[in-house]
Amino acid sequence: PVVRDAEALRVTITAGPTREALDPVRYLSNHSSGKMGYALAEAWARRGAQVRLISGPVTLAAPTNVERVDVTSASEMLSAAEQSAAESDIFIGCAAVADYRADTVAEHKLKKADASDTMTLTLVKNPDIVATIAARSPRPLVVGFAAETRDLERYARDKLTRKGMDMIVANDVSSAGLGFGADDNAALLLWHADDTIERQALPAQAKTDLADAIVDRVLSLYANRAAT
Ligand code: C5P
Repeated sequence: PVVRDAEALRVTITAGPTREALDPVRYLSNHSSGKMGYALAEAWARRGAQVRLISGPVTLAAPTNVERVDVTSASEMLSAAEQSAAESDIFIGCAAVADYRADTVAEHKLKKADASDTMTLTLVKNPDIVATIAARSPRPLVVGFAAETRDLERYARDKLTRKGMDMIVANDVSSAGLGFGADDNAALLLWHADDTIERQALPAQAKTDLADAIVDRVLSLYANRAAT
């Protein structure tokens, strides 16, 4: 039986990669498949939440009962996220946002220069979407992700605190078959509780099952937050 324990909650989720244009035909991006964010959107919707999925370019179909907002660049994702966060109880930043974009997007296709074997691009930092939402007041409960290849817990704790998140889902993307592009994932959940950081390790499992375990923890944090 489906437990509709997230009814009446408004949840915004960012998912997938962003694409940062260099010129009319080229862009910078990454290998994010969007599977984890889409699995989360599906889990929240199945459990009765009102879900808005702000998605970068991926090949997945929107889950049933999920409102998808398509975006391309980090700047577009930020505007959509700020608008949606203002009317959300929970914000989950699952997107693999490009850290940098070209300082200027060329109006016409960039040409190879015969005179040189190298080409220099100047990049500027993109805004941090999760940190921007976490800095709002009032703000939704904010959950972020951290994909790391080493020192998982140390980097994740740092991000949790530095970005002002309530909870972070950390996963090791160096193990084969897990994380980026895969159907399975393992995760370490870290969240603020009073003056300490609590943790829960979730073993490798299908991203759909992992999504339900993450929803369980977020619901319990949300209930605690509402009670204080
Ligand atoms: O610093 P890092 O990119 O590893 O942080 C990952 C977390 O921050 C994820 O939740 C990701 O969605 C979010 N993020 C963001 N905006 C950025 C970079 C990362 O929301 N520009």
